[in-house]
Amino acid sequence: MKIDIITVLPELLESSLMHSIIKRAQDKGLLQINLHQLRKWAINEYGQVDDYQYGGGAGMVLLCEPLAKAIEELSSVTTYDEIIYLTPDGEKLNQKTVNVLSLKKNLLLICGHYKGIDERIREHFVTKEISIGDYVLSGGELAAAVLTDAIGRLIPGVLNDETSALFDSFQDDLLAPPVYSRPEEYRGWKVPEVLMNGNHKLIEEWRQEQSSNRTKEKRPDLLNDL
Ligand code: ADE
Repeated sequence: MKIDIITVLPELLESSLMHSIIKRAQDKGLLQINLHQLRKWAINEYGQVDDYQYGGGAGMVLLCEPLAKAIEELSSVTTYDEIIYLTPDGEKLNQKTVNVLSLKKNLLLICGHYKGIDERIREHFVTKEISIGDYVLSGGELAAAVLTDAIGRLIPGVLNDETSALFDSFQDDLLAPPVYSRPEEYRGWKVPEVLMNGNHKLIEEWRQEQSSNRTKEKRPDLLNDL
């Protein structure tokens, strides 16, 4: 899979996407992430990519021209399955959307900044708008990093244990069950007995029950969605 990202702050993405599982995915050649500095398509020699909004009001807007040129140039070499704009007024990201996007071949992500991007880019180029939650970040970069991380780990072959993503929270609309590791007892706090007896059927039943109870207690809204 290839993910191209248009941004005025590539540095913000570089470090977050160069560690752990997402780094391994790139090292293995399963995921290619390309960061494109929007200023490459600036409207003048000063690297300008933004301006005040018509009608007045605080905050700068990312201009049509650099964005349109960037999208067109990148689209001339790659056919994108989706052109995604990260924005607080997009559809709220969930695991279902991540699953669907992880099956795509080429994605183009656009990070907004300041007040956002000129509306005409949204109308004429963007195919999907995603928010990572009901709060406002100072730019789309952290949202793009979240989206790329969530997608990248699902690409087949990326996780060491292929099955482990299947048991993530949200994969079946349930939260994941609790997990324990050594030692068996710490400060008198014991690991549940059922996990120690090697009876896989009982363990599976216990995990299902824990998932279900945990979801009812912490996120009952997920059960309403079923
Ligand atoms: N840009 C600013 N805030 C955002 C959010 N919550 N989700 C996605 N992109 C954003």
